[in-house]
Amino acid sequence: MKSIPLPPCQHSPKKYSGPSAAEVLALRKQFMNPAIFLYYKNPIMLVEGAMQYLWDDAGKRYLDGIGGIVTVSVGHCHPHVVAAANQQNETLQHSTTLYLHPNVASYAEKLASKMPGDLKVCYFVNSGSEANDLALLMARVATGNYDVIALRNGYHGGNASGMGLTAQSTWKYNVPHSFGVHHTLAPYPYRGSFGYDDAEAGKKYAADVKDIIDTATPGKLAAYIAESIQGVGGFVEFPDGYLKQAYEYVRAAGGVCIADEVQTGFGRLGTHFWGFETHGVIPDIVTMAKGIGNGCPLGAVVTTPKIAQSLVGKVHFNTFGGNPVVSAIGKTVLEVIEKENLQANALKMGNHLLAGLNKLKEKHKIIGDVRGKGLLLGIEMVKDRSTKVPASAECVQVLENARELGLLIGKGGLWGQTIRFAPPMCITQADADFALTVLDEAFSAL
Ligand SMILES: Cc1ncc(COP(=O)(O)O)c(C=O)c1O
Repeated sequence: MKSIPLPPCQHSPKKYSGPSAAEVLALRKQFMNPAIFLYYKNPIMLVEGAMQYLWDDAGKRYLDGIGGIVTVSVGHCHPHVVAAANQQNETLQHSTTLYLHPNVASYAEKLASKMPGDLKVCYFVNSGSEANDLALLMARVATGNYDVIALRNGYHGGNASGMGLTAQSTWKYNVPHSFGVHHTLAPYPYRGSFGYDDAEAGKKYAADVKDIIDTATPGKLAAYIAESIQGVGGFVEFPDGYLKQAYEYVRAAGGVCIADEVQTGFGRLGTHFWGFETHGVIPDIVTMAKGIGNGCPLGAVVTTPKIAQSLVGKVHFNTFGGNPVVSAIGKTVLEVIEKENLQANALKMGNHLLAGLNKLKEKHKIIGDVRGKGLLLGIEMVKDRSTKVPASAECVQVLENARELGLLIGKGGLWGQTIRFAPPMCITQADADFALTVLDEAFSAL
C-alpha cells in the first residue's frame, strides 16, 4: 500500500516510556477476563490523544475515525473539558445526590435546555446499559405494564436488561434475560423484506409492532425502545415514517416510547441535536451515554415530570450518578458543542464524506451499501452484491489496512461486515479527505 500523509498537527506527543505493548498484553491475558476483546492481529496500544488524533506507544499518529466507539464527541483531551475536570478534581472529587452540589443541578438545567417538549427531568448514571435499565424501570412503574418491544439487530447494553433488549446473538449469553421483551423486525432497508425502493417500507415494518402488541402481549405495553440509527448493528437507518407509526401503535397500547440516543445524540447526526428529531417524533424517555461525557463514565435518563414522578415512593439511588467532576465535564461538553459549532461541522463533514464514500462504492464492488447521517457513517461489505453474503473477513482486513495507513475505524453488524466511521466531531476537511484516500487504498489492497 502506498503511504498517505496525515494532515499536519500542532500537538507533539510526550515520549512514551511505560511498559511495552507486549508486557501490557501479557498482564491483560493473565489478569483480565478473556471475554474482553482486542481489535487487530497485532493489538494497538494508544498512549496519548489530542482532539481527533491518537498516538501509539511508538509515537505513530492516527486519525481517530471511531472516537473510542462513538464516545469522544468533542475531541480527545479537549482543553476546556480537561480544565473543567481538573478544576473540580482539585476542589471536591466526590459527593452524592444526598447532599446539594451546584454542578449536578446546573448540568441538569443545561441538559434539559437541549431537550424538546416536556422532556425536562434528568437522572444521571454511569453508562448506557445503566441508563436503559433505569428507563425500563421507569416505563414499567409509570405504566403499570410489563411488556416491552425492542428491535432485532438492536444493541442496548451488556447488563441483564440491556442484553434482554439487545437482539444480536453475538451479544447474548444463554441465561435468562429477556423478561417481557419482544423483538420486532429490524427496519433494515438493505437486508430486510422492504427495501430502499419501497416508499411504504416505514409503515410495513411498523405493522409488525402492531402485530406483536396484538399477538404476543396482553394488548398493553410498558415500553418500546429503539436506537435512532442502530449503532452496533452497523449504522442501520430506518425508512421514513417508521418511528412515527411505531410510536402511534405503542402509545395506543398504553406504552411509553424510549429513544436510545447513546450513539446518535449530541449533534453527531448534523441536522439535529438528537437522532429522534430526524424522525419527527418526541419520545417519552431518552437514554444517553458515550458522547455525553467525551470519554468519561456518564449516562443519563431524561424524561417528563410525570414519568419521573413514578419512581417516587421507593428509594432510588446511584452512588456516582451526578458526581461533581463528571457533571462539570458533561456541562462543558455541551458548551463546547455549542461554542465550536460542532453539530454544523458534523453535518458539513458528514455530507462530504458520504459523497466520497458513495464514489468508493462505485469503484469497489465489495461495498454493498453506504449509509448514515452526519458523522455516523457505515459501509456494509458483501462478497457479492446480489447474494449480499457478508464480507466479514474482508472487513477485518480493511480495518488492518487502514490502521497501517494511520486511520482507526470500527466495525459492526451481526456478522462484523460493516465498517463504522464516527470520529470526534472536530475533524476537518483535510481529515475527511485523508480518511477517504485511506479507505480507497485499504479497499484496493484487499
Ligand atoms: C445504542 C447503545 N445503547 C446502549 C449501549 C450500552 O452502553 P454502555 O457500554 O455504556 O453500557 C451502547 C453501547 O455500545 C449502545 O451503542
